[in-house]
Amino acid sequence: MKEQWQRIENYCALIREKTDFVPEIGIVLGSGLKKLAERIKPVLRIPFKDLPDFPVSEVAGHGNEYILGYLNDVPVAVMTGRVHMYEGFSATDAVLPVRLLVLLGCKKILITNAAGGIDPAMTPPSLMLITDHITSFVPSPLRGKNIRSYGERFPDMSNVYNTMLCEKIRIAAGELNIPLFEGVYLQVPGPQYETPAEIRMYASFGASAVGMSTATEALAAHHMGAKVCGISCISNAAAGLNKTTLNHKEVQEAGDKISESFIALATRAVELLHHESTKD
Ligand code: HPA
Repeated sequence: MKEQWQRIENYCALIREKTDFVPEIGIVLGSGLKKLAERIKPVLRIPFKDLPDFPVSEVAGHGNEYILGYLNDVPVAVMTGRVHMYEGFSATDAVLPVRLLVLLGCKKILITNAAGGIDPAMTPPSLMLITDHITSFVPSPLRGKNIRSYGERFPDMSNVYNTMLCEKIRIAAGELNIPLFEGVYLQVPGPQYETPAEIRMYASFGASAVGMSTATEALAAHHMGAKVCGISCISNAAAGLNKTTLNHKEVQEAGDKISESFIALATRAVELLHHESTKD
């Protein structure tokens, strides 16, 4: 098997054979949030399965393609779904699709997910701006040989979620009157949901929401120098915080319920992020 960076560069070359479109903002759509993709005016769609040996998810509710195109005139590249470590992918492979977004030209990455709410103020379904993350419970995607042209061996993580990008998302929410919580996202390995005792531990660590993705992707994109921001769709109260048991269907249904607000917020945020870059 080729090294990861060689694979990413091959995928990039394959896409470059089909189009010279350069996306500015990369968007990763989480569980139940892929309706945003319907708003894209596509230039090129690439099913992940058309890229040789590309990691493909089999999780219900996740799309499996890149869409390169325009969201309200902003050049974007969207991943309609993602792969997870709990499907058996290594941490390095799980972030490969996001690294490819950066290599294709995305200087900014908006990562989205469905998450369990730990902060009791966040009644599901609701939206949370990710201001920081905890990845201490999952392996680092930076393990192994470091590719110096991608980033440093020991990258700083004190500002993963870019201050300016977060501010644009707050402004978008304010303009649209969409309630937006803020907090720390903690990534767990999954696929099992947490026990109530685990959730109490994560709460004591300062986590506001818990999920099985995102933080490693944010870390990898930040490692490559992209500006990162993220939004969680709080689909359920985390384990032990209400009387119901957890299931994936509930997560998808919560995504459906909040998808209108999510699409409006993400679309306006992308416009504001674009304006921010025209000033760079
Ligand atoms: N825990 C972990 N991942 C999740 C949850 C949860 O409660 N909800 C949606 N994704």
